[in-house]
Amino acid sequence: MVIPNRVGQGGSGPGPISPDGSPIEMYERAEARGEDQLINAVLSPRSSILELGCGTGRITRPLLALGHQVLAVDESPDMVARITETETLCSTIEDLRLDRRFDLVLMMSFLINVPDDDARRGLLDTCARHVKPDGTVLLQQHDRRSFAQNAVLERENHRLVISDVQQLPGDRQAATMTHTVGEETWSQDILVQNLTEQQLTDQLRASGLELVDYLTPDQTWIRARPQQVAAT
Ligand SMILES: C[S@@+](CC[C@H](N)C(=O)[O-])C[C@H]1O[C@@H](n2cnc3c(N)ncnc32)[C@H](O)[C@@H]1O
Repeated sequence: MVIPNRVGQGGSGPGPISPDGSPIEMYERAEARGEDQLINAVLSPRSSILELGCGTGRITRPLLALGHQVLAVDESPDMVARITETETLCSTIEDLRLDRRFDLVLMMSFLINVPDDDARRGLLDTCARHVKPDGTVLLQQHDRRSFAQNAVLERENHRLVISDVQQLPGDRQAATMTHTVGEETWSQDILVQNLTEQQLTDQLRASGLELVDYLTPDQTWIRARPQQVAAT
């Protein structure tokens, strides 16, 4: 099956590339940088987690090691094929309809910033459909400051160049992210829709969710839950 690239997104480099431009081999080499601990801090022991857009399992494995149960979902068969430690599903998030609900629905990696409003609604509807009534939805959103200008970031064995940054009408931003890990280089084109808190609140509400708070001072980690019905 050939899945077309998503709008404004494409990627290049060695090995397979997912439809959103993410390089499988690069994610295979990447490790968690504290995200698992941040997520674990809001969970009860042995929680059930639906991880949407799991990639190669960079965060799945640490969550399993912390004792949680994870169903890992991604539309890229090349991505989910790398996860053998738990149950996986190859599906677009928007089309996911399971007859199960989870303590946590986790959607990281700025998927919420997809530039298409209908697609974003589809993602949030899936979160709402699969979270328990007393459960949590955790979303990681883009930080507009990371695309304020071209930049170079260095971490141990990993060099990230952010280039061709564009500030676009409608509070969108575009950039090319070029990752070099060891001897290999991958490029990914990114187009994101930034969301004000009001837009986020409205869009969560349209899917039956409500904003609870942010887990980090930069407000990139959003905690939401099913809308609470006021007692009469
Ligand atoms: C940037 S990668 C990050 C993977 C993982 N969350 C991590 O942090 O390592 C984003 C992943 O989301 C998947 N993805 C993007 N949009 C999707 C959609 N609408 N449905 C299913 N998977 C999607 C891509 O295939 C890719 O594997």
